[in-house]
Amino acid sequence: MSTVADIVLDKAVATLRPSEYTGALIQVLRAKPQWTAGAKVLEIGSGSGVVLAALGALGAASLCGVDIEREAVAAGARLLDELGHGAAAQFHHGDMWQPVGRRRFDLVVANLPHFPMTHGKLAGRRPSWSHGGANGRRLLDPFLEGIARHLLSGGRAVITHNAFVGLDESRAVLQRQGLSLAVASTVLVPVSAEKIELMTADILTAEEGRSIHRYGPYVFADMHIVEIAAPEDLD
Ligand SMILES: C[S@@+](CC[C@H](N)C(=O)[O-])C[C@H]1O[C@@H](n2cnc3c(N)ncnc32)[C@H](O)[C@@H]1O
Repeated sequence: MSTVADIVLDKAVATLRPSEYTGALIQVLRAKPQWTAGAKVLEIGSGSGVVLAALGALGAASLCGVDIEREAVAAGARLLDELGHGAAAQFHHGDMWQPVGRRRFDLVVANLPHFPMTHGKLAGRRPSWSHGGANGRRLLDPFLEGIARHLLSGGRAVITHNAFVGLDESRAVLQRQGLSLAVASTVLVPVSAEKIELMTADILTAEEGRSIHRYGPYVFADMHIVEIAAPEDLD
């Protein structure tokens, strides 16, 4: 029988449901199982825990999740337990790199909030799901700046990266730490009318016809899955 705590968590889980971004990230990770087999894995912004569940199925040695939302931590722990990965998994509530201190990992994954917007709430999601600040880089930059300090030798990070959030800027941040990036995959993701309304206006104007494609009322955007590693370790 479900307890009250289970019912509350089930409601929270609905707001953490996977998106097209989640699916695209998992697809790239599934195509490169050698990145995960036997790896110490970290996910920043683990949400429902489903990306870590996929990495558990690919044979990760350990699975560490961090999320700023307490319900995400509970949801991730429950999912990994249910799928038989509980013994290899640990979840931390906190901000970005802070909960893992100086620990290093073979594989770091992230599907961070990096939609360029400053205000407003998307229906059925928490504000922490998408808000990336005016330029979309509010979390992306601190994440990129911390990667070198958290990768083991030969390790890599794999992240979602909206094309309209400046891949060249990310490349420059990484170069300062001796890291490079490569686009592993690009997919077209639908962008809801609600999101387009809230998007930082000058980015929308600059990117329409480039990385943002409008067909009448329907809008799509290019989204990259990016691999980040020392230049000699990129696949
Ligand atoms: C776009 S969702 C991705 C969730 C999940 N990884 C997936 O792909 O379905 C972003 C996640 O980052 C979390 N988050 C937002 N800000 C954060 C922060 N400062 N530190 C850690 N996690 C954060 C949110 O709570 C949310 O679960």
